[in-house]
Formats: sequence, structure tokens, C-alpha cells
Amino acid sequence: MAAEKVVKTTGLLGWIDARFPATQLWEDHLSKYYAPKNFNFWYFFGSLALLVLVIQIVTGIFLVMNYKPDATLNAAGIPVAFASVEFIMREVPSGWLIRYMHSTGASAFFVVVYLHMFRGLLYGSYRKPRELVWIFGCLIFLCLMAEAFMGYLLPWGQMSYWGAQVIVNLFSAIPVIGQDLSLFIRGDYVVSDATLNRFFSFHVIAVPLVLLGLVVAHIIALHEVGSNNPDGVEIKAKKDENGIPLDGIPFHPYYSVHDLMGVTGFLIFFSAVIFFFPDMGGYFLEANNFFPADPLKTPPHIAPVWYFTPFYSMLRATTSNFLPILWLFFAVVLGMVILRSKDTRVKIGSILVLVILALGFWKIDAKFWGVLVMGGSVIVLVFMPWLDCSPVKSIRYRPSFHKSILTVFVVVFLVLGYLGVQPPSPVGEKISQLGTLLYFAFFLTMPLWSRAGTFKPVPDRVTFHAH
Ligand code: HEM
Repeated sequence: MAAEKVVKTTGLLGWIDARFPATQLWEDHLSKYYAPKNFNFWYFFGSLALLVLVIQIVTGIFLVMNYKPDATLNAAGIPVAFASVEFIMREVPSGWLIRYMHSTGASAFFVVVYLHMFRGLLYGSYRKPRELVWIFGCLIFLCLMAEAFMGYLLPWGQMSYWGAQVIVNLFSAIPVIGQDLSLFIRGDYVVSDATLNRFFSFHVIAVPLVLLGLVVAHIIALHEVGSNNPDGVEIKAKKDENGIPLDGIPFHPYYSVHDLMGVTGFLIFFSAVIFFFPDMGGYFLEANNFFPADPLKTPPHIAPVWYFTPFYSMLRATTSNFLPILWLFFAVVLGMVILRSKDTRVKIGSILVLVILALGFWKIDAKFWGVLVMGGSVIVLVFMPWLDCSPVKSIRYRPSFHKSILTVFVVVFLVLGYLGVQPPSPVGEKISQLGTLLYFAFFLTMPLWSRAGTFKPVPDRVTFHAH
């Protein structure tokens, strides 16, 4: 944050400033927010995520002007919701463009956010003092998933309908409250008009509001502690006599202009998809979703959209014959905790967890554990700041085997994603099971491997070579 006092303004701005901290906000967050001067390619994705958020909100507003959340059949026997999307595509001026911007925007959001999160892993951006920035990010990711899931029901196509049916049914696997919970979510015994209406309400109002609030909190938290950088060096540690970090440059104009370059590159790809491959071969808009929802006809292969598939694969991998292996996996992880911990309460707790898991795996259906595995695979991200015990933040100064581990993790994530869009198969199931174990092993064994090996010395100042 700027050390200098805000300049006194006159005229209209002065009038506003006397009543609202416009100049103060501009300076604190832009013209006097000092960001490290060594940002690289990976730092484009935060501003791109903001751009996609705006695109989604603006196109969403225009879509809502013609979309109707109504599952009843029109005179032609087509559900009104489905027909209203067709109307937008065919009759509304530029409706096709707005709709494709929104549907491509959903996938683009996840591409950008996955790359943004990966940057966090590369440079240890989740480490102290940015834990809250990361946690707000994880909450954003959860909201984004909810937003995308509920939005996907709205066109009321076959995949919308059956995808929602499968996912909401998962909640029924929760012991005791499951049946009531899924009924509560759907508002009916099957996905129906009531479900469409509540998902619409959540998709256009509730979740976007929370999402916006979280994004504001994410950025406020970031600006409180300052940005990390590819070296993982805290620039605030070295300041000049005015209190300005020696390796910091004002966000505006340096990074506002720099980010425009990212925006340009992004818009080229984004437009190419919208104009030439809007359905992306069935990955962005699934073929089955061009058919109206039919509650009497289940599609042979129901798969979620690509961005959910790594997690969906883990859900499918959790079959009853996988549970003993999963237990063994937890026994090894908790065994290590028991061996290494000096605290008897931790030891007793770990043994208790193992006993509870053994009983649970034996007594409760695998579907429930699948749901927990799927949920756990996202929740585990929240704990990254405490799981990573490496003495350095950035991958640049870590032992090369850390890079190999991160590479394996990325490959596992991609393979799980690929398998999730494929129809189930015995080989696919085995690979997904291995992938699930490796995915969790990455996080749960992190306290061990992250501190092992020989680390390179971290420089005092960031490394920067002017172009
Ligand atoms: C709507 C989604 C999101 C938006 C609009 C957003 C926006 C931003 C922006 C503008 C920045 C500063 C620029 C930059 O460092 O790239 C940032 C930084 C950051 N974001 Fe996000 N973000 C989103 C989602 C996430 C998610 C899902 C995570 C992780 C789970 C995350 C973790 C971080 C971290 C750790 C930083 C600090 C990076 C650093 O200083 O090196 N963000 N975000």
C-alpha cells in the first residue's frame, strides 16, 4: 500500500473525494499499489478471470431478457425453456453471439481459473501471508462449480436434465438425511419445473452475488499483503526511503497495460472458439443437449462438462472393491502421522479415524464414499498453505524432484479429466482408482516431500531482466 498521502483534489473530483474515497481507492488499488516487477505469463490469469466474470455477467443479463425458466411443453410439444434458448439462437438479433459468449465463457472461466490456480502451486502463492487470498480463491472455485452446474440445467436439454438428476441423486447417498436433502434440493421427487426455477434463481442472483463478494474479498486480501511473484520473494522486505518496495512498480500504468496484452491474446482465442468451434466438438456444448429434456429417455452415457470430469472420475472410481484399497491408503498416510507425531492426542485421533473409516467402509454404501472423495478432492485444496512445509515458496528454488511431483500431479489431473468424459470401462476404472490415490497422495504426503531435498538459495531481491 502507498506510503504517500493522497493528493488533494479539486473540482468535481475534489467534491466527490470529500464525500467518497475515489482517489484514495484509485491510488491504493491501482496507481500506488506496488506489484513486483517480475510478473510473467502466469500472472495474466487473475485479470483474465475478472474479464471472464464481467463477460458472464453482461451476457447473462442479456440472455435473461429472452430466456424462460419453464419446463412445461409449448404447443409444439417442446419444453418452453428449451424453446426459449432456440429462440435466442435463431430469432433474437445477435442472440446466438450472446449465447455462445456465455456458454464458451463458462469453459473459458474454468480454463483461466485452473491456470490461475496452477500459478499458485508453481510459486507457492498460498503460503503465509496469502493464506486468506488462497482460501477466498477456493471458495470462489466452489461457487464457480455451483454456478456452472446450475446454469447447465437451464437450457433444459437431455444432458442438462440427466446430469442434474445424477448429481442431485448423489446427495441421497448421505446416510440419514440424504433422501430428504435431495428432495429439498430438487423441490420434487425428480428433476422438474420446480428444480428449474430454483436453479434459475440461484444461477442468476444468489450465487453471482456471493461470487462477486468473494472476488472483492479475494482482491482486498491480496492488496493487504501484496502480490507474490515468480521468485517467491517478499518485495515489502526491501523498501526505499519513501516506503516504496525497491522491486515494486505501480500496478497502473505498468500492469494495466501489461494485462491488456493478456486480454488481447485471450480475446483472439475466445473469438476463434465462439465463431468457429462454439461447441468445441461436444466438450463445451454436449451433442445430447441439443435435444429437449425427456424424463422418459435416459441417454446411454451421461457425462458432466469437461471442467467437472477430474472430480467426477474420482467419484466413479470409488466402487465397493476400491474401498479396502482406499482404507489401506489412509492407513499408510495416518500410519506416517502416528509414527512422526509426538502428540499422543494426534496418535489416538489417527487410530480413531482409521477405525471409523474401517467401520464406515464396511457398513455404508460406496456411493456415499464416492461423494466424500469427490468433495474431499476440492476441499483438500483449502489446506495447501499448511500442507506445504517447504522452506521456499517458488518452484524455481525447489529440488528438481518437486518439479517432477508437480508434473505427475498435473498429468494425473488431466488423465482423470479425460477418463471422466469417457464411458465407464474396466481399464478406465482401474486407472481412475490409481489416479485418485495419486491425487490425494500429492496433498496428504506433501508435509513430508515438500521439506525434503536440497533447496537452491533464494535471492534477496527478485530476478528481473528488462526485455
Ligand atoms: C472468479 C475467479 C477469480 C478471480 C476473478 C480472481 C482474481 C484474481 C486477481 C485479479 C489476482 C491478482 C492478479 C494475479 O495475481 O494474477 C488474483 C491473485 C490470486 N488468486 Fe485469484 N481469482 C479468482 C480465482 C482464484 C482461485 C479459484 C484461486 C485458488 C484456489 C485463486 C488464488 C489466487 C492467489 C493465491 C492469488 C495471489 C497470487 C500471487 O500473488 O502470486 N484465485 N486473483
